[in-house]
This record gives sequence, structure tokens and C-alpha cells, in this order.
Amino acid sequence: VHAGSAELGEGQGLLVWAVKPQMFGEAAAPCAGRIGGALQLSVMAGIRSDAIAKATGSERVVRAMPNTPALIGQGIAGLYARTAVSADDRALIEQVMAPTGQSLWVDREADLDAVTALSGSGPAYFFYVVEAMMAAAVEMGLSAEQGRRLALATCGGAAALGLQSDESPTVLRERVTSKGGTTYAAITSMQADGVGPAIERAVRAAQIRAKELGDEFGG
Ligand SMILES: NC(=O)c1ccc[n+]([C@@H]2O[C@H](COP(=O)([O-])OP(=O)(O)OC[C@H]3O[C@@H](n4cnc5c(N)ncnc54)[C@H](OP(=O)(O)O)[C@@H]3O)[C@@H](O)[C@H]2O)c1
Repeated sequence: VHAGSAELGEGQGLLVWAVKPQMFGEAAAPCAGRIGGALQLSVMAGIRSDAIAKATGSERVVRAMPNTPALIGQGIAGLYARTAVSADDRALIEQVMAPTGQSLWVDREADLDAVTALSGSGPAYFFYVVEAMMAAAVEMGLSAEQGRRLALATCGGAAALGLQSDESPTVLRERVTSKGGTTYAAITSMQADGVGPAIERAVRAAQIRAKELGDEFGG
């Protein structure tokens, strides 16, 4: 919304906030008092819905935490709605988000910090693992490109299998981990190195940082 835009009112479309969190104050200032009761969707990391409602004067605020696979329609976004948001509003938001992939409503705004830590930042964790697999590929004499293809296709395939299967990730892992075998050797090495707990700590660090950013931006 730019300074010259027409007034937005209740039931008149949707206002999307997609500026950097640090820019929100500057972007909202010319709109304040002219938004009426319009429905708003924010994808800004960290800015809480209280702060958006206060800055814009409209309580009809939904926050979304998308992730980068949205670029190819395979994202998953966490959504949170303030109490003033109606069932029709939620349906509209779902429709707007649909081309980016799946979405998941959370009941508590604080849960968006966990969503940020899991799926918002998650693509980077995945690429970090792929980078390590590629480095191992090169150490073993494969080319970086061969490593990239093998690692990405394996991760993508495993994710697709996990999504389509009724079995838990644990069962799917155990199925390819026969005692004394190659996968067993790798998993035993990861367990000895504490890879699982290290990943849990990393996700918690992201959650803590998301909360800190929310506190920093107020609301
Ligand atoms: N990328 C992700 O996967 C992801 C995931 C979750 C959340 N987010 C959040 O999404 C938001 C946008 O991220 P992004 O990576 O898309 O940032 P970006 O590429 O920098 O886009 C920011 C946009 O805001 C516009 N803008 C800046 N100041 C403005 C103002 N005062 N008034 C009107 N428009 C203004 C910019 O326009 P100009 O180009 O003309 O300057 C630009 O189009 C951020 O809050 C980020 O935290 C992103």
C-alpha cells in the first residue's frame, strides 16, 4: 500500500505485508487510519500481530510463516489468526496461500516461533546436510556434481516416501538399518557424534532467536 492508495475497508480485499520487518514502521505509517477494518496477511518474520493491529488500526490480522520451497509451490506455511478473523477470512487466506503449497493453522501465536524454527529455517538445515553429503562424495572420489545429484535425489525421494507411507520415520529408518550393515555403521557413527541432539539444539536456538526478534520489534 502506497501513500496515494485508496482507502481499504472491511470486506474490501486483502492487504499483504511482505516488507522486511525493520521496514514495517515506515511502510505502515502512511496507511494507518486508512485501512478501515481490512483483512491483513503478514509474512514478516518476527512482527507480532498485536504490533500490526496497533500500527494499522485493524484487528483482522493473519500471520504466515512460509518457507522458500513456496517458490516452486512446495512450501509449507504456518498460519495464525487473531480472534477478529472470521471463518470466511481464513478461507480467503487459505486460497491466497494455496499456490505456494500447504498451510497449517496454529492456535497460539507463540507457536509461530516453533514453526519458524522447524519449517521456516528448515530448508537451510536440509541444504547443510546435503553439503556434508556432497563433501563426503568428493572425499570418496565421486565428482561434486555426482554427489549433488545423488544427495538431492535421495533426500527428495526419502521425503516423498515418508509423506506417502503410513509408517513413522523411525520405522522407515530401521527398515534400511540391518544390524552390522552399511547404514548401521553410519547411524552408529552419527549417534556416537550426538548428531540428533545437536539438531534438536539447533532448532531450539532458532526458536529462541525468533522469540527475541519478536520482542525486539515490539508488540
Ligand atoms: N523469503 C522467505 O522465505 C521468507 C520466509 C518467511 C518470512 N519472510 C519474510 O517476508 C518478508 C519479505 O522478505 P523478502 O525476502 O521477500 O524481502 P525483500 O525481497 O527485501 O522484499 C521486501 C519488499 O518490500 C518492499 N518495501 C520495502 N520498504 C517498503 C515501504 N516502505 N513501503 C512499501 N514497500 C516497501 C520492497 O520494495 P522495493 O523492492 O521497491 O524496495 C520489496 O518489494 C520479510 O519480512 C521476511 O522476514 C520471508
